[in-house]
Amino acid sequence: MSEALLDIRNLELRYGAAVAVRDISLQVHPGQLVAVIGNNGAGKSSMVRGATGLVRPSGGQVIFRGEDTTRLPANKKVARGLVMVPEGRLLFPGQTVEDNLILGAYVHGGIKTPRSKATLQRVLELFPRLRERLHQQAGSMSGGEQQMLAIARGLMAEPELLVIDELSLGLAPKIVDQLIGVLADLNRTGLTILLVEQLASYALAIAHTAYVVANGRISHHGPSAELARDPEVMEAFLGRKKTAA
Ligand SMILES: Nc1ncnc2c1ncn2[C@@H]1O[C@H](COP(=O)(O)OP(=O)(O)O)[C@@H](O)[C@H]1O
Ligand SMILES: [Mg+2]
Repeated sequence: MSEALLDIRNLELRYGAAVAVRDISLQVHPGQLVAVIGNNGAGKSSMVRGATGLVRPSGGQVIFRGEDTTRLPANKKVARGLVMVPEGRLLFPGQTVEDNLILGAYVHGGIKTPRSKATLQRVLELFPRLRERLHQQAGSMSGGEQQMLAIARGLMAEPELLVIDELSLGLAPKIVDQLIGVLADLNRTGLTILLVEQLASYALAIAHTAYVVANGRISHHGPSAELARDPEVMEAFLGRKKTAA
């Protein structure tokens, strides 16, 4: 197989004395859609913060595009193509949709470059709702539209790898289905995605491979279809969809 785009090796992360990530190793290869599932408090977001440089890991390595980026700050990682859509979206609610998108393009010199203008047009084709609402305040939109904006803002940074933390947070199932469809489409057109999601069944439905995080470690890892059939894995998640056996 090709070299991993993201290779997390024995990651450990602490908040003061509390260990949130004990030992996580995980690989994402170019073109893959990889899911990370696990219950609330398992350490998924902490793993993402360690990988993206928002929190400095206390142990292990984060190799991105063959380079040891363990100690690089988040903005430098974004410039290299490691882009995150954070849990809870973290939009600027008082700013317009357009301004939020422009902020996403910041690492590439803002929206004035021809390249960023072209990216904006592509992103707005993907999310026509955002085009209609370009001059509306981000905080005045529905939760689903705000999640679209958070993904769109991430795309403005032209990711090599898009990491999405809790796509489904606070959204109705119908909206989650819609956004899951958008991610599957983006992946089919070549975008590599790491999807961190508490609602396991949604993530497993579109991912190639998946990792289960429990107590700061990987408890299971394998092809999504296999994990989705594993009763031990599925019983651990309240978010599972009941499917006929
Ligand atoms: N900023 C923080 N400060 C201290 N402890 C934290 C912080 N964020 C998360 N934790 C703790 O780290 C553990 C893992 O949390 P988190 O990574 O948010 O899990 P998940 O994303 O899987 O729900 C939990 O015990 C949580 O209480
Ligand atoms: Mg989380």
